[in-house]
Amino acid sequence: MKIKKAIFPVGGLGTRFLPATKSMPKEMLPIVDKPLIQYAVEEAAEAGIEQFIFVTSRGKSAIENHFDHSFELENNLLMQGKKNFLKITQEMLKIPGTYAYVRQQEPAGLGHAIWCARHLIDNEPFAVILADDLITGNLTLKNMIHNYQGGNMVAIMEVNKNETSSYGIVKTKEITSKNFEITHMVEKPNPENAPSNLAIVGRYILDSKIFKILEKQNAGKGKEIQLTDAINSQIGTTFCHGFLFEGERYDCGSKLGFIQANITFALERNDLKNELSTWLKKI
Ligand code: G1P
Repeated sequence: MKIKKAIFPVGGLGTRFLPATKSMPKEMLPIVDKPLIQYAVEEAAEAGIEQFIFVTSRGKSAIENHFDHSFELENNLLMQGKKNFLKITQEMLKIPGTYAYVRQQEPAGLGHAIWCARHLIDNEPFAVILADDLITGNLTLKNMIHNYQGGNMVAIMEVNKNETSSYGIVKTKEITSKNFEITHMVEKPNPENAPSNLAIVGRYILDSKIFKILEKQNAGKGKEIQLTDAINSQIGTTFCHGFLFEGERYDCGSKLGFIQANITFALERNDLKNELSTWLKKI
């Protein structure tokens, strides 16, 4: 099934990274030399996504500028003959009209952020990528779309039982080793109430009927409108597919995950790996 649109909720305040995120969106924090949001956009493009919808908020204009020309910079690089850098800045741009931005006027939760993009989605399934969840290999959404057969689909992974209160947690029936039917999901349960240790990671393919649910969704965990609650309320009428993805996931919304991602991605780079690993061993 063709999925053409992806929503990137980027309205969050990034409080966990203050003061770095006081005047800079957390999605612009770099892993080595590329902002988190660009990894997310590249994964979507690799999956065949053609329209990139960002749900932004005040103070996020750096994201819009990032996915646009910077004439002064490009002109300078051209004059100085820095062709490689010029290529890097130009290759990431897509044809005009590919990126769309809507504002989430208040931080009312992930479900609310997705709902803010409702007028940009027709009667079609669409993807959601949370840029904080960086997954190695760049292929998670592509593999999900390949396995998608309608309804709702979420990427899942095993977490430690004591971490369930940081994630949406699912109850499942196994279909194959990687594919599960989700029979229930709950946002950030305490370990004693968690239905399993399978957690939702920031990749979704959603049926557009979700917007009708989100419209009426009451605030849930943290007094926010939760996407997990809306998907859960569709279980029974809409098939919900849990996809156990391959690759290592880094929680770049946490300091530790962000540092680990930087080291891991740097160790993959030919221009950095030798010196970095020597220095890591030394310290
Ligand atoms: C969101 C979702 C949660 C999911 C998580 C994955 O939470 O609400 O269900 O498990 O992303 O990263 P957040 O981390 O934005 O609080």
